[in-house]
Amino acid sequence: MKYDFDLVCDRSGTDCVKWDVQAVFGRRDIIPMWVADMDFPVAVPIVEALKKRAEHRFFGYTRPGKSVFESVTERMQRKFNWKIEPEWVVFTPGVIPALNVAVRAFTHPGDEVILQSPVYHPFYPAVTSSGCQIAINQLKLINGRYEMDYEDLRQKFLPKQGLRPGPNRIKAVMLCNPHNPVGRVWNKDELTLLGEIAIRGESAVISDEIHCELLFKGYKHTPFASISTEFEQNCVVCMSPSKTFNLPGLSIASIIIPNKKLREAFIAAGTGILSHPTIFGQTALEAAYRFGDEWLEQVLYYLQRNLEYAIEYFEKRIPRIKVVKPEGTYLIWLDCRDLNMDAMALRTFMREKARVGMDDGFIFGPGGGGFERMNIGCPRAILREALERIEAAMNSLPA
Ligand SMILES: Cc1ncc(COP(=O)(O)O)c(C=O)c1O
Repeated sequence: MKYDFDLVCDRSGTDCVKWDVQAVFGRRDIIPMWVADMDFPVAVPIVEALKKRAEHRFFGYTRPGKSVFESVTERMQRKFNWKIEPEWVVFTPGVIPALNVAVRAFTHPGDEVILQSPVYHPFYPAVTSSGCQIAINQLKLINGRYEMDYEDLRQKFLPKQGLRPGPNRIKAVMLCNPHNPVGRVWNKDELTLLGEIAIRGESAVISDEIHCELLFKGYKHTPFASISTEFEQNCVVCMSPSKTFNLPGLSIASIIIPNKKLREAFIAAGTGILSHPTIFGQTALEAAYRFGDEWLEQVLYYLQRNLEYAIEYFEKRIPRIKVVKPEGTYLIWLDCRDLNMDAMALRTFMREKARVGMDDGFIFGPGGGGFERMNIGCPRAILREALERIEAAMNSLPA
């Protein structure tokens, strides 16, 4: 069937966080281009599966059955040629809780965890709420493309390897792949370099791969663990259908932990904290993974067109703002440094003048200042209006 992603749907009055702009931005006339939630209705097979489950009329305690596990193992094999065993999969109510539990499982208070900033902001409290400290390995923007700073990463591990005096406390590296907000889909060589440094530094890799199926033309996702058996045994991979199939309100994620010891540590750290996924979450996950590909193919085609539209619009009509071209996700990272505004001035400009609600770059940590993150997962008419508003606001600035 053909889905119509041009259709603008009214999400107001549905307790939808994205469109509750009064609560988030303090005014009603804002176009929300912030949180990673797309303004597209989900695939019909998912809705059908949820309806069927609801009609059963029993919603007792549930745990995912064999078929739910198999839908994950089959998808990893089919999409990424990654063979995983069902017992490696731990279902959680989301990736954020899993990140928090993973940090708790692999560290002690006072240890350090490496984050590659600017990065998805909930990574920071996942470290600090476990009593750990953040060690920043900032990404480098080189010719419009972000790269990892391996030299800095190696330096950080030197005390641990006895090659330099200093505290020896790094226990984990948190990887975001594809990377939110900078849009990189890290390739196998890049991941290999990172993984080798982490192994030499005896640190686990916590790999958040929630955006792994949202790829622009020409890019391929490599699950971190699929690179080698050694990597597989030293990591946690966080997967979920929630970004790909637009299901974040259904609270489900599949956390893949091949190493038995790490898996047991993760489960122990989550006991009493992580609840089972909900009936509707697991129903939607299975329907999405088994029957969602027709929708996904069409949504990716639409997002590609949205991306091309936005890039061309900025280049032709708002050239002072540069788009850092994403390889994956539906988030674009806008380099607004040429406007010479400090963090608060840029925020005020976008919210008050342009009336477009984006995520300010500084919330993603070091290296994020002067950028804005724009969600283009919406009908083109909404995207066009947001761009027109930014253009009008820019035209009102002194030359
Ligand atoms: C990189 C990344 N991880 C995790 C999440 C949220 O995951 P969940 O809703 O499953 O907790 C998001 C949402 O935007 C994200 O971008």
